[in-house]
Amino acid sequence: MIRHPVFARVYDALSRRMEKQGASNHRRRLLADLHGRVIEVGAGNGLNFSYYPDSVDEVLAVEPEPRLRSAAVRAAKSAAVKITVVDGVADALPAAGGSFDAAVASLVLCSVPDQSTALAELHRVVRPGGELRFYEHVLSDQPRLASVQRAVDHVWPFVAGGCHTSRATVAAVEEAGFVIEDIAAFYFPETRVPLPPAPHVIGVGRKPAT
Ligand SMILES: C[S@@+](CC[C@H](N)C(=O)[O-])C[C@H]1O[C@@H](n2cnc3c(N)ncnc32)[C@H](O)[C@@H]1O
Repeated sequence: MIRHPVFARVYDALSRRMEKQGASNHRRRLLADLHGRVIEVGAGNGLNFSYYPDSVDEVLAVEPEPRLRSAAVRAAKSAAVKITVVDGVADALPAAGGSFDAAVASLVLCSVPDQSTALAELHRVVRPGGELRFYEHVLSDQPRLASVQRAVDHVWPFVAGGCHTSRATVAAVEEAGFVIEDIAAFYFPETRVPLPPAPHVIGVGRKPAT
C-alpha cells in the first residue's frame, strides 16, 4: 500500500477535469482493439475502465493508494467488462508469469520508484507475443524543455505523488524487452508555453513471441 491522501484527492478532481479537455480521447486510443486478459498497473481512480472494448475478457487492475483504489472499485462496477481491483505495486505484481495477453500503463511509469523494475514485472506477466499499451508523459526531445523538466524534478515528486517529468520512458520500455510497434507523440495539455508534464506518448510495445 502507498498512501498519498492529498495527492489522491487532488488527482481525483484534476483527472476528471482533464477528461473533458481531451484525456478521454487518449484513453480510448490507448485501449482500442485490446483483447483477452489484461492487467492495468496503477489504475488510479479507474478512468480507463469505461474505455475497455468488449473484446477484453477481464482486467486485473492493481492500485496501491487506498483512496484511489476505492474510486477504482466504484468505477469497475459500471464498466462493460469484468474488472477486479486489487492492492499491489508495479514493482512486484500479484500475478503469474505469462498470464496476460496485454498490460496497460497509463500515467504511472512517471511515478513508480524504479522504472526498470516495474517494466521487468510487466514483461514477466505478459505472455510471449503479448503487448504493453502505454500512455505516459515523458522527457521532451527539446533540449530547453528537457532542462526545465530535470530542474522541476527536484521538487515535483514531492508534490505530485512521486511523479517525475523527465523520464525517458520509451527507451526504458525498449530496454525492458518490448519492441515498439506504434508510437504517437503529442503535447497535452496544449499550451502556448509547454508545461513540464506536457510531452506525452501513446504507444504499443510487443513482447517477442520467442
Ligand atoms: C497520475 S496517477 C494515474 C492513474 C491512472 N493510471 C490514470 O491513468 O489516470 C499515478 C498512479 O500511479 C499509482 N502508483 C504510484 N506508485 C505506484 C507503484 N509503485 N505501483 C503501482 N502504482 C503506483 C498511484 O497510486 C496513482 O494511482
